[in-house]
Amino acid sequence: MSVSLHGRVLVLSLLLTGTAAFAADGSPKTATGNAAQVQSAQLQQRPGHAAIASANYLATNAGLEVLAKGGNAFDAAVAVASTLSVVEPESSGIGGGFMAVLHRAKDDHDVFIDARETAPAAVNPRDYLNPDGSPNRDTALKGPLSAGIPGEPAGLVLIAKRYGRLPLQQSLAPAIRTARDGFQPDARLRHSIAEEQQNIQRWPASVAKYLPDGKPPADGAIWRDPDQARTWELIAAHGDDGFYRGETAQKLVAAVRAAGGNWTLADLAGYQAKERTPIVVNYRGYRIVTAPPPSSGGVAIAEILNILSGFDLSKMDQAQRVHYIVEAMRRAFRDHNDYLGDPDFVKMPLDMLLSPYYADGLRQSILPDRATPSSMLPRAEAPEPGMHTTHFSIIDADGNMAAITSTVNYVMGSTFVAAGTGVLLNDEMDDFALVPNKPNVYGLLGSAANAPAPGKRMLSSMSPSIVIGADRTAVIGSPGGSTIITQVLEGILHFIDGESAQQIAAHKRFHHQYMPDEVMVEDGTFDPATSDALTKMGYALKQRESWGFMNVVTWDRKTNQLDAASDPRRPSGLGKVQ
Ligand code: DON
Repeated sequence: MSVSLHGRVLVLSLLLTGTAAFAADGSPKTATGNAAQVQSAQLQQRPGHAAIASANYLATNAGLEVLAKGGNAFDAAVAVASTLSVVEPESSGIGGGFMAVLHRAKDDHDVFIDARETAPAAVNPRDYLNPDGSPNRDTALKGPLSAGIPGEPAGLVLIAKRYGRLPLQQSLAPAIRTARDGFQPDARLRHSIAEEQQNIQRWPASVAKYLPDGKPPADGAIWRDPDQARTWELIAAHGDDGFYRGETAQKLVAAVRAAGGNWTLADLAGYQAKERTPIVVNYRGYRIVTAPPPSSGGVAIAEILNILSGFDLSKMDQAQRVHYIVEAMRRAFRDHNDYLGDPDFVKMPLDMLLSPYYADGLRQSILPDRATPSSMLPRAEAPEPGMHTTHFSIIDADGNMAAITSTVNYVMGSTFVAAGTGVLLNDEMDDFALVPNKPNVYGLLGSAANAPAPGKRMLSSMSPSIVIGADRTAVIGSPGGSTIITQVLEGILHFIDGESAQQIAAHKRFHHQYMPDEVMVEDGTFDPATSDALTKMGYALKQRESWGFMNVVTWDRKTNQLDAASDPRRPSGLGKVQ
């Protein structure tokens, strides 16, 4: 089998004949299935070939390598995530966490993997306040106090052991090799390092890793990360113990405490990735399998779809359609602020939030021709989120599927590297409501349900999703802070409307999150007449630059065609990404 690898999005033919695999070179191409089977017009039980869409071609490549060695979608997911940790550390990695929706084909089993970070036992809300009581945005976002106990290593070990076919040594091999032998950092990584240079300079081990000659790596430089290679090797050899106990744990705790953090060995030894029941919502004949708490994404997506199911959007002009979608978003985000948190700590009224009757009531409250002002919570400013988080989607030859959104939170996470480990720590503590009803970096407000507590998981917007229809299926997700939820929602709506993976990834987007009370709009989303109509209904439209990095894979079971598409907003090598 020959594999040519040019783009970030590849469709790999794994047909039994062993015919050539092929790739997309920037613009995704598709693989066609067995013609005889297509003519029989029967739905395919398995694609017979595989597709991966990720944010970096080296990571997609790593997934394909593991599939070619006999791995399934879940082994490939371990390879993609661990390689992203090496080549796209500004977005996700070994010191962060992820959320995944997996679909196992043989028994039609859907599961959610929660590898979200937890607060250390010594978490102290006062650490996130200035002496005058105002929020301290530095401790919330930079340095070891901003970091939760990482979930990514435990989550990948869980996926490999319970769902994979290959030993970790094989699925982690591409990441270890890439970290050891080196790679050329792309423009986006070089730009992210430059953007965070001042913060990186505060921590010696971060300087050693990201500013080797006192400045970000040059274009074309080969960059190696032997410490991270060794940490992944310990995980490959010892599973969870390679990270959460022994040498790595000791180095992590020593580095964090020396820099003013409060982690203990017990925090690390006590970390567990968890399997949870995903949220499932039916909409226009499709089954959408998505993220439950501690993500707010699935609850919000389900609530929005339940509200929208009472409208025939296809019969409306764009302004009317956007009006109803925005009103549904507004109501779902209000509930996000009020109710949601870590299910192990907070009792949430999920039966109510997910009920069609609740949605009926919310739908009744929407006026046909006017925006409803969001006036129940104080205003919050939502800054532009950089798209620093990563999502990838995989379908393998047997029809196993993995939707994984992984993050270190803000660009380059906490910017703090724990000496001797190659581990860049996340700054996920800011996803807690550290100060009640004060906005986090994404402008999200929160209440007691998302207050920090020892061992608690902070609420997330990550919304990896699988949309299963009678004859078409999609695996979808995106970065984007609070806009993840609405981007994925719009992607689901576009898929159900019949759009291809490429159209979904490219589609113009808009967003509303209750507070601030404005519709954030990508340039070119609305024609002037629609903008005018929405303004007359009472909407404040605000242009926003930054619109995610969606990675979508679709499977048409009638034609057995797989499509894989990466967001065209961020072509490989783009220097400045918002
Ligand atoms: O879990 C969350 O919701 C955030 N930490 C995700 C951060 C993100 O998407 C950053 N990119 N804009």
